[in-house]
Amino acid sequence: MRIRYMKEAPQILEEASWVVPDGMALQGHWKEHFDTEAGELCLEIGCGMGRFISQMAAQHPEQGWIGLERISSVLARGIKRLEKSEEARPNLRFLRGDAVELRNVFGPGELDRIYLNFSDPWPKERHAKRRLTAPSYLAIYRAILREDGLLQMKTDNEILFDFSLEQLQTQGWQVLQESRDLHGAGILPDNVMTEYEEKFVKQGKKICFLQAVPQALAKDS
Ligand SMILES: C[S@@+](CC[C@H](N)C(=O)[O-])C[C@H]1O[C@@H](n2cnc3c(N)ncnc32)[C@H](O)[C@@H]1O
Repeated sequence: MRIRYMKEAPQILEEASWVVPDGMALQGHWKEHFDTEAGELCLEIGCGMGRFISQMAAQHPEQGWIGLERISSVLARGIKRLEKSEEARPNLRFLRGDAVELRNVFGPGELDRIYLNFSDPWPKERHAKRRLTAPSYLAIYRAILREDGLLQMKTDNEILFDFSLEQLQTQGWQVLQESRDLHGAGILPDNVMTEYEEKFVKQGKKICFLQAVPQALAKDS
């Protein structure tokens, strides 16, 4: 993705009421933070311009939705667009930050769902540790998801998809559903398309999809 630097991004993020300035201050208290009686708490990692998460928040007002994005200019552009088109939603917040920090932002088992949509594939083998389904990231998700919480992933990249299935298996997750043609299979009738998904679908690409839950790890004897 080509990212256009936006000089005013820090100021936009600082002034937007949708952006949480310090996620760590809310660790363990996210549900109280939302103005709604948030039911489930859902996080999208790498939300980009935030279209998916804002639509999900609109469709599920009883749930709390948090979009994490590490690049300020990308998030700021999304915030500006949202502010033009929608009223602030009480059940939607954004965070500028990196997924590696998530253990400091959420308490143990605080999240009900994590979404990975079209994560950067990091195709070179020497960059495999940066993929958002590498073992170190899966360990973070396990720590902050509730015991039977859900990890959902969509990608156009079959190599990343194969890698993710393999890592989930070796790291003790149970894959509940998987498909290499989400749209053809019709397994997610209320699917909300992300910006990237729409682009890939227009190009005729098939979308890979999975849902997984962490399984209890055997205790060392
Ligand atoms: C390819 S884009 C997909 C954006 C959006 N999810 C979509 O499907 O349209 C991936 C996004 O993830 C963000 N990202 C990548 N690694 C991240 C990380 N470790 N923590 C937070 N965001 C990350 C990137 O900055 C980028 O905006």
